[in-house]
Amino acid sequence: MSNTDFYIRRLHSLSGIVPIGFFLLEHIFSISTVIAGPAAFDTTVGHLAAIPHGLLVTLEIFAIAIPLLFHGLYGAYIALQANNNVGSYGYARNRQFWLQRMSAWYTFAFLIWHVGYLRFMVKGGGTPINYALMHDYLSNPIVFVLYAIGLVAAIYHFTNGLFTFCITWGITVGPRAQNIANQAAWGLFALLSVVGLFALTRYIA
Ligand code: HEM
Repeated sequence: MSNTDFYIRRLHSLSGIVPIGFFLLEHIFSISTVIAGPAAFDTTVGHLAAIPHGLLVTLEIFAIAIPLLFHGLYGAYIALQANNNVGSYGYARNRQFWLQRMSAWYTFAFLIWHVGYLRFMVKGGGTPINYALMHDYLSNPIVFVLYAIGLVAAIYHFTNGLFTFCITWGITVGPRAQNIANQAAWGLFALLSVVGLFALTRYIA
């Protein structure tokens, strides 16, 4: 691995947490306000809409789109490289490594659809997003199931990514520290999945 590759790999790793991981957390929190009722969700959307347009678009481009495109495209390049290190993990780690790749591919396809339709076609086309719109959209069982899988895939990819991030950056060095981080990552995965999936069901309640 050349020096440049090393730094790009590190940047790829970091971008999964800052800013993309933080955005994912914020996004799960925003969509989960629906748990308090349709009006609470519409209020959240209203707060986001109150951000001055220029600032919002700047944030969307520099804090979300560019880091996500970099992480997704370079991630696809990494995932396509044949020489991954599957063999150097134990069985459970091996499966997690495979799930990390599979969740990356699903998230990749899901985000093209999710952002392409809701952000560009619907919102970009001048239709404001609110509870009523999401209710109609998610009432289609196929859309609902694909969204549920997309949500869990993105959460898995992020939380397992937090665990591998700690290894990549030398934060968890020994097996004991890595096991604790792994369990914490599974715990966060379970928590975010339960909250996110419950929130999703509230859109069609
Ligand atoms: C919701 C959006 C996403 C988030 C929050 C996210 C987050 C993360 C995090 C935190 C890591 C761990 C970094 C590390 O191990 O050091 C990671 C790794 C990875 N991501 Fe993502 N990611 C997202 C989307 C994607 C997409 C769309 C792809 C493209 C296929 C992708 C491909 C990868 C790959 C291949 C790795 C492993 C890198 C390695 O083995 O060194 N990610 N991601």
